[in-house]
Amino acid sequence: MSAAPGFGPRGGVLHAEGVSLASIAQAVGTPTYVYSAASLRAAARRFREALEPVPRKAIAFAVKANPSRAVLHLLHEEGYGADIVSGGELTAALDAGMAARDIAFSGVGKTPDELAQALRAGVGHINLESEREGEVLAAIATRMGLSAPALLRVNPDVDAGTHAKITTGTSDSKFGVAIADAPGIYDRLARRPGLSLRGVAVHIGSQIMALDPLEAAYRRIGELVAALRAQGHAVGDVDLGGGLGVDYHRGQDADVAAYGMMVARVTRDWDVTLMFEPGRYIAAHAGVLLTRVLWVKPGEDCPFVILDAGMNDLARPALYDAWHDIAAVAPNGATMRAHVVGPVCESSDRFARARLIDRMGEGDLAVLRDVGAYGASMASCYNSRALTAEVLVEGDRFAIVAPRIAAAELRPQHLPSWWREDALGQAA
Ligand code: LLP
Repeated sequence: MSAAPGFGPRGGVLHAEGVSLASIAQAVGTPTYVYSAASLRAAARRFREALEPVPRKAIAFAVKANPSRAVLHLLHEEGYGADIVSGGELTAALDAGMAARDIAFSGVGKTPDELAQALRAGVGHINLESEREGEVLAAIATRMGLSAPALLRVNPDVDAGTHAKITTGTSDSKFGVAIADAPGIYDRLARRPGLSLRGVAVHIGSQIMALDPLEAAYRRIGELVAALRAQGHAVGDVDLGGGLGVDYHRGQDADVAAYGMMVARVTRDWDVTLMFEPGRYIAAHAGVLLTRVLWVKPGEDCPFVILDAGMNDLARPALYDAWHDIAAVAPNGATMRAHVVGPVCESSDRFARARLIDRMGEGDLAVLRDVGAYGASMASCYNSRALTAEVLVEGDRFAIVAPRIAAAELRPQHLPSWWREDALGQAA
C-alpha cells in the first residue's frame, strides 16, 4: 500500500492531517518541507509488523534519508534505532533520544576521529568496509581500552535492479569487501585485540522493488555465515541493510509483507539477531515539499511553471531523473500540460517535463509529493538560496522543526585577514 495516510484534500484544500497546507505556507513561507507524524508512524509500524515472522531483530532507521530530530525522535518512540554514516548523524541520533547501543555505524569513508567518537558514545556496532578499516578501528579501540563491536560488510555481487546511482552490491561498487575475500579477512580481523567481530552486513542498493535480488544476496550471506562458522567463528548478528522501494507514482510500494516472509524463510536456520536499516520505505510518503508558483512563462511546446523550490531544495529529479507527483494545494479541477521547473540557474533544475498537472497560475501553492526521504537531507544552498524550512504536523497542530536558514548564516564567509586590514587601512 502506498497512499500516505497523512495528506489529502479537505474542503478542496490539500491538508497535512488536520492542517491546511495553505495555512502552513502563510505562517512559515515557502518552500517548506511538511512531514506527517501519522504517515511516519504508519510506515514504521507496517515495516515492523511485516517482520513479525523474524524472531530476533533490531530495526534502525537510515538517518541519511531524513535526519530531522523530530522525525528521529518519533521513530525512536516507535522502537527504532539509527543507521548512521557520519559523526554528524551520530549527534543527530543521540540528540533525538536514541540509545547509543541502538545505533549502527555504516559508511565507506569513516574517519579515525569518527570511529573514536562512535566508540566513546558506545554505538551498537560498526560496519567495517575494508580490512584496513578493521585494523585501524582495532588500534583505536585498544588505545581506548575497549573492544569495538563490529560487523564485516560484504559485497555479494548482486545487481539490485535499481537506478545505477543507487546500486551498491555489484562487484564494481566501492562498498564492502568482495564476498570471496570475506572469509580470509574475517579470520584475520577476528584475531585482532580491540575488535569484537560479531557477524556480517550487506546492503545492495536503494529503491528496490523486486525481492529476488534481495533474496539472492541474503542467500549468499547465509552461505558465508555457514562458512564462517565452519572456520570456528561465532556469528551472532547479521545486518541486512535497507533498500525497500516505494512507488512514486502512487501505486504499490515494494511488498513489505512478502519481504518479511522471504527474510524469515531464507534466514530460518541462521540463528542470529537480524538487523534492518530501512530509510526510504519509512519516510518517503510522509513528506511533501510545499512551494509557490513564481511565474508561468510561455514555452515552445508548453508553458514553464516556475516554482520557488529548486534543485537545491529537492535534488532527486536533477540527480536521478526521479519522478515526484506535483499537485495544486487548492486545485480548481482544470489541468494543464507544463514543464515544472525551479528558479536555479541550471537546466537540470526541472521537476517535470511536459507533464499533465493541475492548472496553476502565478502565486498558487503546489506540492511535490513523496519527498520525506532524501529530500531535505540532500538540500543545499546552491545559488546562495536559503536552506528550506521543515514543519511537522500531528493531528491539527504543526511546528517548525527546522527553521529556514539564509545561505550567509549557514556558511559565514570571510575575506582573508590581510585584505580586511587593507580595506580598513584605506577606509581610515
Ligand atoms: N543502509 C545503508 C548502508 C545504506 O547505504 C542505505 C542507503 C540505507 C541503509 C537505506 O536505504 P533505503 O532503505 O533508504 O533504500 N539519495 C538516493 C538514495 C541513496 C541511498 C543510499 N544508501 C535517493 O534519493 O534515491
